[in-house]
Amino acid sequence: MPRPESATRVDFRSPNLEDGQHLWRMAREARVLDVNTSYAYLLWARDFAETSIIATIDDDPGGFVTGYRRPDDPETLMIWQVAVGDQYRGQGLASRMLDDLVDRSSDAPVRHLETTITADNSASIALFTSFANARKAPIERTPLFEAEMFPDGHDAELLFRIGPF
Ligand SMILES: CC(C)(COP(=O)(O)OP(=O)(O)OC[C@H]1O[C@@H](n2cnc3c(N)ncnc32)[C@H](O)[C@@H]1OP(=O)(O)O)[C@@H](O)C(=O)NCCC(=O)NCCS
Repeated sequence: MPRPESATRVDFRSPNLEDGQHLWRMAREARVLDVNTSYAYLLWARDFAETSIIATIDDDPGGFVTGYRRPDDPETLMIWQVAVGDQYRGQGLASRMLDDLVDRSSDAPVRHLETTITADNSASIALFTSFANARKAPIERTPLFEAEMFPDGHDAELLFRIGPF
């Protein structure tokens, strides 16, 4: 498989309807993510494309970030899921996708980024901590979804709120 540093092309763009299936597949292949229905990813690609991103490496879908601006706080970008294919990990792809999303020009700048993380996801904690450090932005960590709130034995999700930028 081609690797980003030797690839002819790494592209970042908003997902389209054709990409919905790739988001679903990458979420499934990541193994540690909640895999939502394929319908959910298609819906996301239609309605939240502007706050989501897919990375392709020589046209091969290699990673994605899904997010939305919080309806009651539009300067906060909530990141729902991030995944990078096994073969493309450890090369800064996830960091670059986050940077690209946050820095996209828009009438309203993003001043905070939020995400939720389970305590055992060290890769995700490292990704968002590195993102905050690079921007010299503070991180607030607070409980959000307690384990008891989930009906299916899901682990607790801690809210990471980063910013202001
Ligand atoms: C988390 C994930 C998206 C990281 O993707 P990636 O492209 O390899 O990440 P990057 O190369 O941009 O690394 C970003 C930072 O995280 C660190 N990091 C990445 N993976 C790591 C791991 N497994 N363990 C520890 N640190 C890790 C990197 O060292 C880097 O830190 P630095 O900037 O201080 O050097 C990827 O491992 C993945 O898809 N995991 C499965 C799905 C998941 O857990 N998603 C996050 C929750 S939604």
